[in-house]
Amino acid sequence: MPVISFANAKGGAGKTTAALLLATELAHQGFRIIIIDADPQRWISQWQEASGKVRNIEVISEVTVASLNGHLREMAPVTDYFIIDLAGARDALVTTALGLSDHVFIPVQGSAMDAKGAAQILDLLAILKKKARLDFDHSVVLTRVTSMVTTKALLAIKGLLAAKGVNVMTTPIGERTAFKELFETGGTLHTMDPAKVSNVDKAKENARAYAVEVLRLMPIKITRSAVSRLIGLGRNIA
Ligand SMILES: Nc1ncnc2c1ncn2[C@@H]1O[C@H](COP(=O)(O)OP(=O)(O)OP(=O)(O)O)[C@@H](O)[C@H]1O
Ligand SMILES: [Mg+2]
Repeated sequence: MPVISFANAKGGAGKTTAALLLATELAHQGFRIIIIDADPQRWISQWQEASGKVRNIEVISEVTVASLNGHLREMAPVTDYFIIDLAGARDALVTTALGLSDHVFIPVQGSAMDAKGAAQILDLLAILKKKARLDFDHSVVLTRVTSMVTTKALLAIKGLLAAKGVNVMTTPIGERTAFKELFETGGTLHTMDPAKVSNVDKAKENARAYAVEVLRLMPIKITRSAVSRLIGLGRNIA
């Protein structure tokens, strides 16, 4: 049960939006998702309250340093992916969550300012990996990207991060009204009324491409059917 978290010391970078888009898209694809709302501002919990029951998604609120690991252990048997939304801070809960994560996504806005926030998190990751001997993969996801953000600015951020050996996702998250609207209306892009919100189809397409790329970065799960396929393959070769 991979644990995916979203972190950036800079507030407002787009963590919660990126976390919710991934959760709702994977749930739509049939995966059982638990979102752990580890931000005291409770954005995800408020989204859940506005949404009511959403198929394949459960939200855990009121998480503490002491309770986080227990939640993961307890829910692991009934969960395909854990998604942790973290506060824009650099505190003990963030550190604990990073330590329990398989992959950390760092949303960075397509502007030079946010490269600073990303650099802070990268420093933190480096310290954790070295001092606490923690190991997890991490990738930057560019977000709130508009046609106004110049290719030059994006290339500058990509260059800065590549120099630190960081994977930058190929699919950026665009600046879209539909993504903002999720928090107003609750529900998912799939329950959103296209007559009321512009470009829902394009938003869905973006969310799907982003989720596909995230899944490609996840550790391969050896399921029973995959094992029998492998055994079958071995027999064919023999
Ligand atoms: N791709 C996007 N398109 C449109 N609006 C966005 C997008 N991403 C984020 N926003 C908006 O930007 C604001 C901040 O985004 P979000 O809450 O996701 O950031 P955050 O990193 O979780 O912030 P915090 O540090 O406060 O937790 C919100 O108003 C959100 O609706
Ligand atoms: Mg947030």
